Order: sequence, then C-alpha cells, then structure tokens
Amino acid sequence: MSDKTFYVTTPIYYVNAEPHLGTAYTTVAADAVARYRRMTGHDVMFLTGLDEHGQKIAQAAEENGMEPQAWVDAIAPKFEAAWKMLGISYDDFIRTTEPRHKKGVQAFWTELHDRGYLYQGNYEGWYCVPDETYWTEEQLEDGKCPQCGRDVQFIKEDNWFFKLSEFQQPLLDFYESHPGFVQPETRRNEVLSFVKGGLKDLSISRTNFTWGVPLPFAEDHVTYVWIDALLNYITALGYGGEDHSKFDRYWPADYNFVGKDIIRFHCVIWPAMLMAAGVEPPKAVFAHGFLLTKGEKMSKSKGNAQTPASLVERFGVDAYRYYFLRDVQFGQDGSISMESMVQRYNGDLANDWGNLVSRLLNMTEKYLEGLTPTAPTTEPTDADKTLRAFAGFLPEKYEAAMSRLDYGSALEAAWDLIKDCNRYIENEAPWTLAKEGDTDRLAAVLYNTLEAVRIAALYTAPVMPNTSAEVWTRLGLGDITSVTDIVAVSAWGQLPSGLRVTKGEALFPRIYEEA
Ligand code: MSP
Repeated sequence: MSDKTFYVTTPIYYVNAEPHLGTAYTTVAADAVARYRRMTGHDVMFLTGLDEHGQKIAQAAEENGMEPQAWVDAIAPKFEAAWKMLGISYDDFIRTTEPRHKKGVQAFWTELHDRGYLYQGNYEGWYCVPDETYWTEEQLEDGKCPQCGRDVQFIKEDNWFFKLSEFQQPLLDFYESHPGFVQPETRRNEVLSFVKGGLKDLSISRTNFTWGVPLPFAEDHVTYVWIDALLNYITALGYGGEDHSKFDRYWPADYNFVGKDIIRFHCVIWPAMLMAAGVEPPKAVFAHGFLLTKGEKMSKSKGNAQTPASLVERFGVDAYRYYFLRDVQFGQDGSISMESMVQRYNGDLANDWGNLVSRLLNMTEKYLEGLTPTAPTTEPTDADKTLRAFAGFLPEKYEAAMSRLDYGSALEAAWDLIKDCNRYIENEAPWTLAKEGDTDRLAAVLYNTLEAVRIAALYTAPVMPNTSAEVWTRLGLGDITSVTDIVAVSAWGQLPSGLRVTKGEALFPRIYEEA
C-alpha cells in the first residue's frame, strides 16, 4: 500500500429530494481529483454520503406519509444510482442513520462532555428548517431566514450547548498557522471577519422531535443535525468505533469539498468541534461556487433544479463531467446553459478530441495495416519536437493545476497537446506522405501522433474515464485504470510497436441541433 494517502470528501446530501446538477457538481469534482490521485500513486479514500436526520427530513417523510427511516431508505438508492451513472468512484458511502455513524457521534459527545465543553441551558430564538440553521432576531431579514428567505420558526427549548465562544482565539491562531485551510483564498476573509466578530455558544441538541442521534448523557435530546452531519467525515473512518485504523491512516482529510453556502459550518464550527475533542482539523476546506441558470442559483426550492440524467442521456457521462469542470471555474459561481454545453461538446470533444482519435486510427488502419509502428530512429523535425514538448510539459502543468483544484487549467493543458496533435496531422499530412511513398516519414508521423494520443488519454482520464479507457483499448493498450504512476507512464516513447488498433464508433458524435 502506498504511503502517500489522499482523503477527499463531499458534503453529505439531504435526502429530501433527488440529486440535481448542483449536488452532482461537487461529487464529480471530488471524483476527478480522487481518480487523478490514484494515478499519482496515492492511497485514496473518497467519501460521500447522505445526511438523513433532522427536522427537514422528518418533515419530508411526513409530507410523503412515510416513517423517516422508510423515507430515507427509499431516497438513498436514487443517490447511489445517480452516482453510478456519473461514474463516481467513491470508496465509501456513509448514511448518518447507520449504526457506525451513531456510535461515532455518541463517542464524540462523551468526549466533549468529559472535557467540559458542554453545558445545559435554554435556547430562545429562530430556526430555519430548510437550512437547519439557528438565527438571532437581529440576523433575520424582514422576519425571514437571511440565507434562503424562507419562513423561520420560533424555538424555546432546553438544550445542550457547545462552548464555541471559547474557540475564537484558537480558531484565529489556527487560520494564521494554516493559511491553506480555507480555500480558495477569497473565502478566507469572509471566515476571518466572521470569527473576529465574536462567537456565541452553539445549541447542539433538540427536544421537539426525535429523528436524530440521542445524546448519550441526555437521551431525550437528539443531536443538532449539522453536528451530526459534520461528524460523518470521521465516523466513516471508524472514529469512536472498535476499528479506527482508517481514521489513523487517512485523517486529517486533505480536502473537505463544500459549496460556499455551508462554509461557516465547515470552517468555523467543524474545526472548533475537532479541537474540543482533541482531533486535528482537516488540512483544507475548499468552497466552490454555485451553478447558476439564467442568473439564479439552481435549487429545488427555486424550482429550477435539473437532474443529471437528462443531460447524460443527451451528451453522455464523460461530456457531462467535462462540461462542468471545464466551463465553470472551480471556486467561483458559473452560469451553465444548454447552448454553452452544445458548444463545448461539438468544439472540444467532437472536433478536437473525438475526431483526432478517429482520423488517427483510420490512417493507422489504412496506411499501416492497423498496427502501431516502431518508434522513429531518425532525427526529430521541429514539428516533432514541438509535439513532444507539449507532451513533456503536460505532467507538470497538470499537477500544478490540480494541486490548486483548477480543473479548467488542467484540462486546458491536456487540450494544448490535443490541439497540437491536430495541427501536426494537418501540417504533416500523412495522406500526402502515403501518396508520395515516403513510408518512413509516414510511420514516424503516425507513431508520434499515436504516442501523443496515448499520453493525452492519460491526462483526460480523471475527468473522462470512460473515453480514456476506450482510447487505450482502441490503441491496443492495457487497462488505463491500473495506472498508478502517471508521470512515468506518460514519458515519451513507450507505445509498443505491433499493437493492433481498432477504429470503433465516433467517441463524441456531433450534436447538430442547438439547445
Ligand atoms: N446536508 C448538508 C451538508 C452537510 S455536510 C456535513 C447540505 N446538503 S445539501 O444537499 O443541501 O447541499 C449539499 C451541497 O450541494 C452544498 O455544498 C451546496 O452548496 C451544494 N449545492 C446545492 N445547490 C447548488 C448549486 N446550484 N450549485 C453548486 N452547488 C450547490 O447542505
């Protein structure tokens, strides 16, 4: 087992509705980096899952005339099916109603109780059920939730509290000594100014409903759903259970991926909770922006949520993954539209990548009897050198981009090579070489392009795993998913000669109709 570990998580999704493009976005992004890190030889743990407790879920169940457990059991498979369709290669899938999770949550409470960070008090204030968030009177906007604008309810309960206020200075010190904790950089100030403004103790239990994890020392209280949910990142590793070897191995996480709306929970409450329990906070929380359609956040409550299935049916899964990671700068809001998706599909995928592979394999069939040629031994021309340089720069450029989760630039680096392959074929014109009977140069040109395509497939694999696997199969190469040293495997000149290539169908058949 590799000694380099990489642990990435997505938020766990509320099971009040089926997954939509917004929730799929984080999951696809996490999947792409998880796949890439497997290819760089890391021992990867990629976790996703479901947030199944709390008042919102209990209400959703009630509205559907079901018991909460039956309701979450009915919705969970829809998430699993959506992730399967999108090729999500998670290593674990946690549901907060699982015994392993409850056990971990209770162990956490016992720890905090023993350490003196909890006390009993009474809470009086406002609560937004859709956001599962407490608000003070002053925070409300026109009497509504300042985050989602919906109605809030007044709560007056005996609750248990977490001494969050004691963590103001420790958090500020932590941000200072771990400048990469809140990412991207632009989100850091938001978190800093919030914490500098002072922290209030946090109500961590509820008594007016029972759908949650009971506090071990006060069984009539159930855990506030956000605390319950945040703990999934460690309970999935066995925190609080008998076997905590995964916790010892993978924690602290390299990344907790979140949307920008849930940054306070992840960058303030979450590290404070962990510090209180004597556990190290994650190395980084990365907050991405929102997907917008016609200028509005896509969400179930706005009624503009679209399921991934409709797009996958039309464009295919790899094009789906490509579009969201290429067209939206990870970390910023991004507008998505059918027009731009069709454009990306036809331009980048059908023309640049799909066509290149088709032409190349056709020519290999036509001019070389479908067999990969031997590597040229003649002095490379300037054009050959340029092509090799694009392939040579790719590993470093790709790594630099992925290490800051800049998927767009990582894909751009792969496209620099793909585009140069197209330029190279146009300029070198193998069809003319064939006509002129220059078989040595013809074989050299085809070898170079085949080799460049082999390398491009490696670097497009994290985002488009099916296409890359298919390209490797057509080239007569082995299983691309077994690559664990992408840098070594992408070094120039490793394409074996005499492999039988296969033409196959168009990888990305052109889409003619717009939108
Ligand atoms: N259950 C909580 C998370 C608990 S994690 C310990 C939750 N769930 S959610 O299902 O409502 O949202 C999950 C994630 O989806 C959030 O990170 C949110 O930002 C993201 N998105 C929801 N709509 C989105 C868009 N339109 N665009 C991008 N991401 C969006 O919050």
